[in-house]
Amino acid sequence: MRHLLDILDLTTEEIGQLINTACDIIDDPDKYAEKCRRRKLATLFFEPSTRTRLSFEAAMYELGGSVLGFSSSSSSSTSKGESVSDTIKVVSCYADIIAMRHPKEGAPMVASMVSGVPIINAGDGGHNHPTQTLADLLTIYREKGSFENLTVGLCGDLKFGRTVHSLINAMSRYSGVKFVLISPEELKLPDYVTNNVLVKNNIEFEETTDLLEAMPKLDILYMTRVQRERFFNEQDYIRLKDSYILTPDKLEGAKKDLCIMHPLPRVNEISVAVDNDPRACYFKQVLNGKYMRMALILKLLEVE
Ligand code: CP
Repeated sequence: MRHLLDILDLTTEEIGQLINTACDIIDDPDKYAEKCRRRKLATLFFEPSTRTRLSFEAAMYELGGSVLGFSSSSSSSTSKGESVSDTIKVVSCYADIIAMRHPKEGAPMVASMVSGVPIINAGDGGHNHPTQTLADLLTIYREKGSFENLTVGLCGDLKFGRTVHSLINAMSRYSGVKFVLISPEELKLPDYVTNNVLVKNNIEFEETTDLLEAMPKLDILYMTRVQRERFFNEQDYIRLKDSYILTPDKLEGAKKDLCIMHPLPRVNEISVAVDNDPRACYFKQVLNGKYMRMALILKLLEVE
C-alpha cells in the first residue's frame, strides 16, 4: 500500500507517469468516468480549504466514485478529544482512500502508520503540500514543455509556505533548474530546506528582497500569500503581509513567456489587473490540480 506524504515519495519517473495520465484524462475524460465505481474517498480537513478539498472531491466524482468526510475539525469527533490515530482507524473502515489536511506538521505521517488505506497529505502545517506540487508540475509542464533549465522565482512567505517547500523538493531533481528566493528577511526559506535540499544537492540559488531586480531572469514566478495562520504575533503579520504586490507595471521587465503562478488563495499578492495577462497561470493551476488528483487516486488505488 502506497501513501503520498511528501512529493519525494514519488520518483521523477512516477511524476512523469502521473502527468501522462492527467494529460490523457484531459484528452478523453469519458474513458475514466467509471474507473473508481464503488470506491470511496474520505476528505478529512482539520484546517480550512477550498481548492484542495473540492478538487479531490470533484476528482473522485469524475472517476465515478463517491466521497465522504468533514471540512472542519469542529464538525468531527476531534472536537470531543478523539485522536488523529483513532479517527483514521475509524475512517479506514468506511473509505478506500483518505485525503487529509491538518495544522500539525507530520500528522499525515502518523495517520499513515495506523491506516488500513492509502493516506494523501493534503497539507500539513507549514511543512508540505505534495498534491499542490503535482498541480504546479502539470502547469509548468503544459506551459514550458519540460522541467529542465528553468529559473524559478519564489516570492513572498518562503518560511511558512508549504507549497514552496514541496515545489523546491520536486524541481531540484531536474537538471539546470535555478531558484531565486525573494522574501523579506523574516520570511526566508527555512535552513532545513536551504541546507538539506539546495546546498546538499549543489543547486544554484540566490536570495534577495528585490522582486523587480529578479524579474528579468525568471521563467517561472511563483507568488505566495503571507500565511497569517502561522504567525505568533498579529503585528508582525500586518507589517509583512503586503511585502510584495504584483501589478502590471512590475511585469514590464519580465520575459514574454514568463509563467506567473500562485497556489491560491491570494489576498493582496497579485493585483486582479494581472489576471488578464496571458502569462497569468494561477487559475490554470486550479484546474490542473483536479486532473493530477484524479491521476493520483488511480495510482494509489492501483486502478489500471
Ligand atoms: N492551494 C490550496 O491549498 O488552496 P486551499 O487552501 O483552498 O485548499
